[in-house]
Amino acid sequence: MKKIIIQGGEELSGTIKISGAKNSAVALIPAAILSDDEVTIYNVPNISDRDALIEIIELLEGKVTLDQDALKLDMKNIKNKVIPEELSKKLRASYYFMGALLGKYNKVEMYFPGGCNIGARPINLHLKGFEMLGAKVTYDCDKYIIEADELKGARIYLDFASVGATINLMLAAVKAKGTTVISNAAREAEIVNIATFLNNMGAKITGAGTSEIKIVGVEKLGKAIIEVIPDRIEAGTYIIMGALLGKDLKIDGVIKEHVEALLSKLSDIGVKYEIKNNVITINKCESMNPINIKTLVFPGFPTDLGQPMSVLLTQTNGTSLFEETIWENRMGHIKYLNKMGAKIIVNGSHAVIIGPTKLQGKDVVATDLRAGAAMVIAGLIAEGETRISEIKHILRGYEDIIEKLQNVGAKIEIKEI
Ligand code: EPZ
Repeated sequence: MKKIIIQGGEELSGTIKISGAKNSAVALIPAAILSDDEVTIYNVPNISDRDALIEIIELLEGKVTLDQDALKLDMKNIKNKVIPEELSKKLRASYYFMGALLGKYNKVEMYFPGGCNIGARPINLHLKGFEMLGAKVTYDCDKYIIEADELKGARIYLDFASVGATINLMLAAVKAKGTTVISNAAREAEIVNIATFLNNMGAKITGAGTSEIKIVGVEKLGKAIIEVIPDRIEAGTYIIMGALLGKDLKIDGVIKEHVEALLSKLSDIGVKYEIKNNVITINKCESMNPINIKTLVFPGFPTDLGQPMSVLLTQTNGTSLFEETIWENRMGHIKYLNKMGAKIIVNGSHAVIIGPTKLQGKDVVATDLRAGAAMVIAGLIAEGETRISEIKHILRGYEDIIEKLQNVGAKIEIKEI
C-alpha cells in the first residue's frame, strides 16, 4: 500500500506555486459540453478528478487534447449518452453532467452515487431546480433520467446557498427559453469562473459571485477559452503550513479576496504575513492566540479549510473552538490528531481544541481529502515519523503536493509499504 512518509520539524522556505482550482476545473470540463464548437481550458490541475471527467467527455465522443495544463475540447461531434455508474461514481462533481447535458439536449440519463465520507451529499436542490425549469426527474436506484420538452426560465430560490446546485442550475438554464434568476445563490469564486466561461461562449449571465444570478437564455454557445482560477483551498492549506513552519515561505498564486476569511483569522492568531502581486510571504508564528472558527458559505470561513486549520489550533496557547456548519461529518481527522498527542474533544460538529500540544509522528489515515491535508500538516509539525495511508484522497485534490513540499525543505515522500 502506498503511504506518505513525513519526518516532522523541518522549516519550509522557498516558493510554492498554486495550481488551478480543483473545484473550478471539475465544473469547467462538464460545462464545455454546452459549446457546439471548440473550447480551451488553461491552468487545469493535473489531478485524478481531471482524468475521470475527461473519460466521460470521451465516452460522449467529445475530442480531448491535453497539452501541459491546456485542455482543448472539441464538442462538434459530441453525443448524448447514458453515463454509466463506473464513471460517474469516481467523483461527486460528475453531477455537473446533469446540468450540462440537460441544458444542451433537454435530456440526461446518468447514474449518480450517494454520499461519501463527509456526509450524505444529497442533490435535492439540484433536482428541484431542474424541475422548476420544466424538467421531469425520474429514477430507479441510482440512475437518474431528467428530461424536458422545453426548458423555460424560472425564478429559483435555493434553501441553502449550495455551490453545486448554483453551478448545475446555471448550466441547465443558459439555453432555456426566457430568463432564470437563482436567488440565495452561492457566492464562491469558482462560480464566477464558470459563469465567465459560459459568457465567453455567448451566454448571458450576470450577478455571478452575488447571491442573485440572472441568466437570459440564448440559442447557441460557441468557441471559448477560459483560465482556471488559482485554487484558494490549496493556497490556504499551504498558508497554514507557513504559519506553522515558514521561513519567508512564499505562496505564489493567492487572490487576496478569495482567502480573506483565513487571513483575518490568522491575523487574530498573531500570524504575520505580507501579500504583494498575488504572492504571500509568511513566517512561523512563535506564539499563537487561541481563536474560534465557524465554517460558513462564502465569504465566511471555508469549510474546506476547517480541518487543516484545526491542526494549527492545536498549537495555540489556549482553548479554541472549531464548529463545522456545512457538512455533517468533517471531524474524521480528529481521532488521528489525538493519537498524535493533540487534546481535542469532539461533540457532533463542534470541537474544543486545547493547546499548545506537542504532536508525535504516528501511523494515521486520510479519511477524506481535507482530513488528509490535515494529516500532512500534522506530520510536518510532529516530532518523528508520520505515515499516512489512504493517500488517494490527498492526491486527487492537491497537484504535486509531495514535490511542492520537498522543494521548500519538507522531508516527505511516498513509499510502498
Ligand atoms: C462544493 O461541494 C465543493 N466540491 C466542496 O469541496 C465544498 O466543501 C462545498 O462546495 C462547500 O463549499 C466541489 O466543488 C466539487 P454544496 P458541493 O452543494 O457543491 C447540502 C473539497 O474538499 N446540500 O455547497 O457538493 C450538502 O449536504 C470538497 O474540495 C443539500 O442539502 O457543496 C451540504 O451540507 C468537499 N442539497 C451543503 O449543502 C443539495 O442539493 C453544502 O453543499 C446540495 C447540497
